[in-house]
Amino acid sequence: AIVAAAMALLFPRRDLTGKHVLVSAGPTQERIDPVRYITNRSSGKMGYAIAEAAAARGAHVTLVSGPVALPVPEGVERVSVVSSSDMFEAVHAAFSSCDGLIMAAAPADFTPAAFAEQKIKKNGREGMTLELAATRDILKSIGEKKGKQRVMGFAAETEHLAENAAKKLAAKNLDMIAANDVTAAGAGFAVDTNAVTLYKRDGSAEHSGMMPKRTLADWLLDRLFAE
Ligand code: CTP
Repeated sequence: AIVAAAMALLFPRRDLTGKHVLVSAGPTQERIDPVRYITNRSSGKMGYAIAEAAAARGAHVTLVSGPVALPVPEGVERVSVVSSSDMFEAVHAAFSSCDGLIMAAAPADFTPAAFAEQKIKKNGREGMTLELAATRDILKSIGEKKGKQRVMGFAAETEHLAENAAKKLAAKNLDMIAANDVTAAGAGFAVDTNAVTLYKRDGSAEHSGMMPKRTLADWLLDRLFAE
């Protein structure tokens, strides 16, 4: 980390000057009633590190972010969203003018089928069932309208990493997908390190090794914007 910080100070890289990089980060919140929501364990740290790295390298960066407790990185334009549906709209709005999208967010796959206008009361019930409806898959819809833009997805898995990543790469028409085993030590949620295997369209795979998320951010940007 010290070497990386010294290198950045001594030899600043401006290789993404003129590029518009779109990054999504964090979880979403899906409202149940006025006091409750469904969310997930995404901290936003990976996406924020990518946004910070891209801006440091000269890119114009739009960061579509779910609710997280992180400061806006230097030079980054943040668009704050709450629900998976809000994130869908914000990502689509910025996509046509971008050169590359890195979808590091964890938008909810399901949302309450109906929002209860009033707080749901216990009423002495022993249990209750909450009905959920599928949200739209943001990356899949982006993949369907993709032009010259480069698109990277993430795959957070707990098993069958390679198989699931390959399926998502094809189904969402991505250029590459960074897959990580969220149960591995130092690679899960809310930690400052991560290790991914990057699967590309040509069938190749490259392992990053365990590194700080900020270093991994540059490693991922190098690959998305290679040649
Ligand atoms: N993603 C998305 N829109 C959704 C859900 C996920 O764009 N509604 C994106 C994520 O940001 C990530 C990629 O799709 O880049 C894969 O997300 P993941 O949760 O691993 O996969 P899913 O497609 O949701 O599949 P599953 O939950 O069955 O593993």
